[in-house]
Amino acid sequence: MRLKEKVAIITGAGVGMGREASVLFGKEGASVGIFDLNVDAANETAELVKIAGGKAHVIQGDVSKEADVQRAIDETVKAFGKLHILYANAGVLWKDRDKSVTDTTEENWDKVQAINLKGPFFLTKHGIPALRNSGGGSIILVGSISALAGFTLAQDSYTCAKGALISLCKSLAIQFAPEQIRCNIIHPGFIDTPLQAPYLNDAKRTAIAGEIPMRRLGNARDIANAALFLASDESSWMTGAEMVVDGGFMAM
Ligand SMILES: NC(=O)c1ccc[n+]([C@@H]2O[C@H](COP(=O)([O-])OP(=O)(O)OC[C@H]3O[C@@H](n4cnc5c(N)ncnc54)[C@H](O)[C@@H]3O)[C@@H](O)[C@H]2O)c1
Repeated sequence: MRLKEKVAIITGAGVGMGREASVLFGKEGASVGIFDLNVDAANETAELVKIAGGKAHVIQGDVSKEADVQRAIDETVKAFGKLHILYANAGVLWKDRDKSVTDTTEENWDKVQAINLKGPFFLTKHGIPALRNSGGGSIILVGSISALAGFTLAQDSYTCAKGALISLCKSLAIQFAPEQIRCNIIHPGFIDTPLQAPYLNDAKRTAIAGEIPMRRLGNARDIANAALFLASDESSWMTGAEMVVDGGFMAM
């Protein structure tokens, strides 16, 4: 029960890492605001959280819309009375529309920024006052190894949004540390989730696994475990940090 009596909100909790973290957090005693565009997926996650022993409240909405995010915070606090953990997990990887700067339209650049960067801005803007009212808390941002190095197959808007989150992480960490509000960022490597599924087949999985020192792709639980540590009081003296969870890829 590492999150006993804690309340979390997780964006993009319908599938992938957000779902896995929701269920794990619930199993560890948390009440979870399940926020997602896809309400059917969010409802399924909520059922799994309840089966795991946690409490769940579903909020349907779009992280790129400020009113939706504000409502999500308000509803989570109303449902559970307080808020301790903001997990800005939602993100999109649109390899068909977000490419090198030379091949990306302004509209597609802006859409990716709106979800991947403005979403965490809205979540922290409206969530930090609620953490403060609860006596402190933990903010978890999600970057990517693609923000740490260049790749020849570019998704430049995605990469820039994830890179900007590193700066946001450090700024929030320093601003709010005196109020016991921590902020850390996880950089996942190649994780086998619905986000990557359109770009993977068995041959590609094998080829990518061969490039990773641990010789396998990551799974959603690998990241949820890192998020659990950052959400819990076990990391209570850790803020402004970047946690790379990638099977050793960036160490090469
Ligand atoms: N999978 C990877 O290899 C990988 C690697 C590095 C970083 N990441 C990052 O990890 C995070 C989680 O990725 P994942 O692989 O679990 O993704 P996923 O696509 O499997 O799940 C994302 C969830 O977010 C929801 N979502 C998408 N847009 C939304 C919006 N505008 N508002 C609300 N919800 C929205 C989707 O409905 C979905 O339930 C993302 O920020 C992603 O960029 C993923």
